Amino acid sequence: MSAPTSLASLKAAAPVVLPSLLLCDFGHLADEVSRLESAGVRAFHLDVMDGDFVPNFTYGMPIVEAVRKATDLPIDCHLMIRQPERYVSTFRDAGADIITVHAEATDDLRGTLEAISATGAAAGIAINPGTPVATISPVLDACQLVLVMSVEAGFGGQSFNPIAIEKLSELRTLIAPDTVLEVDGGIGAETIARCAAAGAEWFVVGSAIFRSNDYARSVSELERIASQ
Ligand code: DX5
Ligand code: ZN
Repeated sequence: MSAPTSLASLKAAAPVVLPSLLLCDFGHLADEVSRLESAGVRAFHLDVMDGDFVPNFTYGMPIVEAVRKATDLPIDCHLMIRQPERYVSTFRDAGADIITVHAEATDDLRGTLEAISATGAAAGIAINPGTPVATISPVLDACQLVLVMSVEAGFGGQSFNPIAIEKLSELRTLIAPDTVLEVDGGIGAETIARCAAAGAEWFVVGSAIFRSNDYARSVSELERIASQ
């Protein structure tokens, strides 16, 4: 599935909840992927961490490849790694449809976004809670997705930081209509509505899905609240 098609159709389907594969059962990854598919998810968010840019270490290409083998749904790769430009084509080859890099992790954000687009993947920019929108406004034309972190990148299960709300509202006025606005971190029944009202259309969810034993109910309830 090429990124633009997956991105355009997924954007048209908003609001979309994407499960964050960080708190899932990695001992039964393929089962988790098919369980999430049966629960109605329409894309997967993979949290890649290098232990350098963020104080946590998760996984790399083998897990992306395993998820790619297990599903045809779009894979949204959130690279929490320093100098992500080194690995753009590797993650595309591993199966990523969307490759999102942190503005704080590279000295050449525009070049990195262009390199992602050159692979055929959709290019995303992520910003941590402490990073102002002004940092990325000069390069918004070079991305197809903006990810606003409502927690400090690195761990699931953190509390929602409301600074994300004003950043979502500001970005909504700055980005092109076909650019996806995504929010990630501490998203649940109490926080998703405010993010949707501020303009978010994709919602990355970890603990609010994986801490429940009914994935379908969690996903449909969160998407229902976001569409109100
Ligand atoms: C944090 C990750 C998020 C996180 C979301 O660095 O990017 O995707 O796993 O998990 P919750 O929903 O539990 O905050
Ligand atoms: Zn993430």
